[in-house]
Amino acid sequence: MASPSADAFRFAHEHRQDVAWLSQNTNHLVPPGPIERALERAIRERRYEGYPLATGDPALLDLVARDFAAIGERPFLTGGGTEALYMTTRALLGPGDEVVASDPSYLIIHRFVELAGARTRNLDIYAPPYRLAPDRIAEAIGPRTKMLLLIDPLNPLGSGYPREEVRAIAELAHDHHLYLLNDVTYRDFSEGHALAAEFAPEETVTIWSVSKNCGLAGMRIGGFFARGELARSIARFNTNDLGVNVLAQAAARAAMETKSAWIGDVVRQTRANGARIREVVAGVPGTSLPVYPSRANMMVIDVRETGLTPEAVQSEMLYQHRVFVRAGNYLSAQYGDRFVRVSFSNSPADIERFARAFPAAIAALRARAPAARAT
Ligand SMILES: Cc1ncc(COP(=O)(O)O)c(C=O)c1O
Repeated sequence: MASPSADAFRFAHEHRQDVAWLSQNTNHLVPPGPIERALERAIRERRYEGYPLATGDPALLDLVARDFAAIGERPFLTGGGTEALYMTTRALLGPGDEVVASDPSYLIIHRFVELAGARTRNLDIYAPPYRLAPDRIAEAIGPRTKMLLLIDPLNPLGSGYPREEVRAIAELAHDHHLYLLNDVTYRDFSEGHALAAEFAPEETVTIWSVSKNCGLAGMRIGGFFARGELARSIARFNTNDLGVNVLAQAAARAAMETKSAWIGDVVRQTRANGARIREVVAGVPGTSLPVYPSRANMMVIDVRETGLTPEAVQSEMLYQHRVFVRAGNYLSAQYGDRFVRVSFSNSPADIERFARAFPAAIAALRARAPAARAT
């Protein structure tokens, strides 16, 4: 039997044209012109008939390297940051190893850690400052610790790390000879963002992606940066021996060539949308934002005091209002029953749909309570 989440995704995809997609931190604000033209050209030239250069389009690699100039390395291209995360955990971890991580977190990475036979040690961060504090990480490091997981900004909470904390965490990795997995998928949304590789260049694997900043999630392209032998040991697990999708590369190149012209507007609109969501949440008793402002393009809405389950809120929003927000259970073992996650790099019209739907959904569910949650 399909899970409620699989059902929700099937429904949302079937009604794609009609759904306000606030559920996957995707970005619907990037001006489409340059990307469309690059794709049309690549299709006209039937680039899909041949394999790409296996290491990736050199112009794209240059653009990404320039974007991450502080790292001073060439990027490795993969089928999305997800593949780079899988390769990294597979290459660097083994049975008995531990990774210091958080709860909530982007748990897909934790699953990859487990596939490598290792385990995560999840520090509870669902309380201020809603991120990993260097001293708590230091306490959690033990004889089996092999890696620290630093997702910055963090999906799902939207919390991010000041430069001095990134430095302190990088120094811990360096001093304890640990790998530092620095997932910076949402970096462009975070003002003053610092890369851990600046402080621990030998230990850090940086995961980058164009899914969220460039609005190219469907293209499935991203990658990693790491130094010398570390990069080679990860690259051994590359399955894209024949290169990453040519159309995805063309789209990513067009986006990266033009990013400086539009990213400021994308971030500004995202912030304004976040502020509008905050207003709406403030008007709905029993709901609150643990982290505001978000340093990413998502945040969580705690619904615990309403007595409603996040799943009920997700279903009511999607099936009655066609506004897709995500129940927290796939993002937190301990707190997934408290929150829904909402992402907001969307048109103001989508956000207004949220503004109408959220109070109405909560009110309708409450009117039907106590069936919604037995307390
Ligand atoms: C923290 C984090 N890393 C990686 C990814 C996946 O990125 P990609 O689309 O590049 O595979 C996501 C997607 O939501 C994410 O939140």
